[in-house]
Amino acid sequence: MYHSKKKKDGLLSYQDDACHVYGFEVDKLLQDNHPIKVFQVRSKQDHNVKKVIKAYFKDNTDVDQITTRQFMAEISVLTKIHHPYVMGMDTMGIFPGYFAYVMPLYETGTLTEALPTMNQEKSDEYLVQLCAGLKFLHRHKIAHRDVKTDNVLITAKEKRVVIADFGLSEILTTIDTPVSTIKGTHMYISPEQFIQKEFNAFKCDMYALGVVYWCMVFKVDVFDLKSTEQMKESINTLCDTSIDWLVLTNLLDPSPVDRLTCYNLLCVLEQPEYRFRDRIASLRGNGKMFYQSVINVLVCPVSV
Ligand SMILES: Nc1ncnc2c1ncn2[C@@H]1O[C@H](COP(=O)(O)OP(=O)(O)OP(=O)(O)O)[C@@H](O)[C@H]1O
Ligand SMILES: [Mg+2]
Repeated sequence: MYHSKKKKDGLLSYQDDACHVYGFEVDKLLQDNHPIKVFQVRSKQDHNVKKVIKAYFKDNTDVDQITTRQFMAEISVLTKIHHPYVMGMDTMGIFPGYFAYVMPLYETGTLTEALPTMNQEKSDEYLVQLCAGLKFLHRHKIAHRDVKTDNVLITAKEKRVVIADFGLSEILTTIDTPVSTIKGTHMYISPEQFIQKEFNAFKCDMYALGVVYWCMVFKVDVFDLKSTEQMKESINTLCDTSIDWLVLTNLLDPSPVDRLTCYNLLCVLEQPEYRFRDRIASLRGNGKMFYQSVINVLVCPVSV
């Protein structure tokens, strides 16, 4: 997109302003997707304290409405939810020229970057964690609507993934409230969104989770494929009694009715014949510590 010099200077000053307000200085730019900028910062007082600021610039155009909606969607989720597998937020601010929030830095970067070195141990762990994170969101009637490997971040020691980027998320009234807007990223958008007038947003997330798991199993970024057909063909090379085949064929099923929910998927994975059982059991063991919702300040019953 073309920006005049004046506009660019303006954006830079907002970036500096955002840093100044929170006592940071810019380390590096992580993404510049106008009007949204994501940059890594460090504390002026202690350079070891590193954070990330996501800033939404207001440019007094029609785009502003969309920007405002996206920022509000993110903030409504991030202030409501506190969960080990969901992105956390430190603080946020609404300023005359921009909106911004500060979040922890996830040093290992995105799941997309980790795909080439993926192994079964990591992909099993990440699948269970993503399921637990999504199940928590869905239980709070939050549909993410843009689950993809770029929106999954990994902690420094590669032990944990978090679901990030709630710009397209929706908080719905009930688990069955239908939605009608096609949302998401090419290759991750479930087929029913193009066919049906109304569909279930939570089942759309489950399809996208299937694509994420496909990427981890095959260690390939789905954008490297030419079509969804290629994804389906590769699944057929797996043994049709294996759990990976079962999970992928189910989540990528074009019919949302047949697609598992997060709760049901965890129940399937927990069956004694599958290799995920111990991981899920250990998560359940940590349940009391983890399953907390900030706003209600209630400790939810143990569940993954
Ligand atoms: N907390 C963080 N730690 C490390 N990297 C981050 C963090 N937040 C964002 N990033 C990086 O910045 C990128 C963009 O962030 P984010 O997805 O929130 O912005 P976006 O503009 O909504 O992205 P898009 O529309 O492309 O999905 C991420 O894909 C990731 O590479
Ligand atoms: Mg993103």
